[in-house]
Amino acid sequence: MSQPDFSPSADRNKHPILDTLRTLLPVQGRALEIASGTGQHVQWFAQQLPGWTWQPTEVHRGALYNIEVRVAEAELDNVLEAQTLDVCKEPWFAEATPYDLVLCINMLHIAPWAACGALMRGAARHLTPSGVLVTYGPYFETAVPPTASNLEFDQSLRAHDASFGIRQLDDVQNEAALAGLQLQARHALPANNLLLVWGSNPGR
Ligand SMILES: C[S@@+](CC[C@H](N)C(=O)[O-])C[C@H]1O[C@@H](n2cnc3c(N)ncnc32)[C@H](O)[C@@H]1O
Repeated sequence: MSQPDFSPSADRNKHPILDTLRTLLPVQGRALEIASGTGQHVQWFAQQLPGWTWQPTEVHRGALYNIEVRVAEAELDNVLEAQTLDVCKEPWFAEATPYDLVLCINMLHIAPWAACGALMRGAARHLTPSGVLVTYGPYFETAVPPTASNLEFDQSLRAHDASFGIRQLDDVQNEAALAGLQLQARHALPANNLLLVWGSNPGR
């Protein structure tokens, strides 16, 4: 069995993300993770939030191996079998499964802009009435001067793929509003990242 891929940034940011999730979430619920990547986040969150059942997903079928290995190694019984999911292929599921949390870490800037609206619509479709979409990553904000590191990161993303790039929070909010979601909370996390909470009701 080959070693699963490892992301140093996921290993770092899983701690502040978990700390923030703990302040937001009830002790139990059902979570859908979009863009699970290496599976490090779902492994960590499933271990640390055992009252939650986790559904990991990935657009790249090959990446499902990462998730399966990590879940098996950790002997987690609160993680469902990983599924392929491309946010842009709507509807996501044939059946309307309700989730209390849709979690999407570091995807919006590494996917075409159309993925943002698709994420918002899919989350709105699958969230329970009190459920929330949580997105995490770098954003540009009108009222906050961009950091040099985020400007540099944005340039490198766009050089790699012209459809990628750090998103303007105002634009993301517009896509959310079209899907019936509003920004409920903004948490500034280390390394110029934001954890944003979106739901169908105004501020929590
Ligand atoms: C930088 S990685 C982040 C992975 C993981 N969430 C993390 O933080 O380590 C970006 C992820 O976005 C996923 N992605 C890109 N386009 C997508 C799409 N259309 N639907 C779902 N996931 C997508 C990629 O497969 C990849 O897992």
